[in-house]
Amino acid sequence: MRYELCASSEIPEGKSKAMQAGETKLVVYHLSDGFYATQARCSHMFASLGKGKIVDDKCVQCPLHRARFDIRTGDVSEWANFPPGVQLLNVVRGEKKLDTWPVSEENGQLFVEI
Ligand code: FES
Repeated sequence: MRYELCASSEIPEGKSKAMQAGETKLVVYHLSDGFYATQARCSHMFASLGKGKIVDDKCVQCPLHRARFDIRTGDVSEWANFPPGVQLLNVVRGEKKLDTWPVSEENGQLFVEI
């Protein structure tokens, strides 16, 4: 299903925004080659990726334990590694990629297909 999100000008390049489309919570990112969307919560321990940092025009870094995910694919680039000792938690919270959805831009508006 297709949902209208917001004006593309609301998300400058290099920034992201937490949003909702129907029942789905997501984060929309503006990278150098366009707009992308991932699930809103980190797959490790559900921290808000809307508060995450975009790294190298490629990854979102989770604010809690610093897992990094490829924004374009949802793949795990680095699993949770902070603070020291979090690896014990990782025994039960193994690597899991993020859900992603295609975002398109038409006449200055963003749409997501879920
Ligand atoms: S909650 Fe995101 S890395 Fe732990």
